[in-house]
Amino acid sequence: MADTEKNLAGIRRDYCLASLDEHAVGNDPFAFFRKWLSEVEHAQLDELNAMTLATVDSDSQPHARTVLLKGLDDRGFMFFSNYESAKGHDMEHHPRVALLFFWKELERQVRVEGMVEMLHDDENDAYYQSRPRGSRIGAWASPQSSVIADRSILDERAAHFDAQYPGEQVPRPAFWGGYRVLPLSFEFWQGRSSRLHDRIRFRRAGLNEAWERERLAP
Ligand SMILES: Cc1cc2nc3c(=O)[nH]c(=O)nc-3n(C[C@H](O)[C@H](O)[C@H](O)COP(=O)(O)O)c2cc1C
Repeated sequence: MADTEKNLAGIRRDYCLASLDEHAVGNDPFAFFRKWLSEVEHAQLDELNAMTLATVDSDSQPHARTVLLKGLDDRGFMFFSNYESAKGHDMEHHPRVALLFFWKELERQVRVEGMVEMLHDDENDAYYQSRPRGSRIGAWASPQSSVIADRSILDERAAHFDAQYPGEQVPRPAFWGGYRVLPLSFEFWQGRSSRLHDRIRFRRAGLNEAWERERLAP
């Protein structure tokens, strides 16, 4: 067994950078999320917009993977993917998801749970056309989540679509676009000493209902 594996139980770290109280968090979880996001930006963390997306399939099996947060508005959190991917099918079947941000350098975690909706074509086109040409060709080339015989399939498909769309004009595939996660709950977690972390949760019964704030035991 490798040393790291033998030592897993002994790996621990005490958190001491900051604290979180109700007054600082305020009453608007979107506003507080934006504040933390700007602090993360200020700290120049790598991949600060990477988040874990959890979905549930038709057998109630949860699946989690990383995606990139590509936009935030007053309604929710936006990311882009392949509508025919495994996650796309999960969300079509069951439009409820969870997001997780872990900003370890700031000893912070944010959990977001709620419903998910598909973005409109104009939003999809605007973001798709802002991507580098290679990524746009990649969207065509990858039948995301499908089993493929080997790597050469991808290279052949990329070459095929590269020849089909030789210039800068690469149309967006109908199977590629974005989602907006509409939160019904947020939890802000700040690591504290001796595992006595701060957890502040916001919940609302529906998208047009008021937020309720509460503190959770760590
Ligand atoms: C840092 C990072 C960022 C990623 N960003 C995205 C993304 O924005 N959209 C996406 O579809 N996949 C993204 N992926 C790939 C997904 O994690 C996943 O492999 C892929 O979407 C297929 O997931 P599925 O088969 O569960 O649908 C990213 C992976 C990593 C490690």
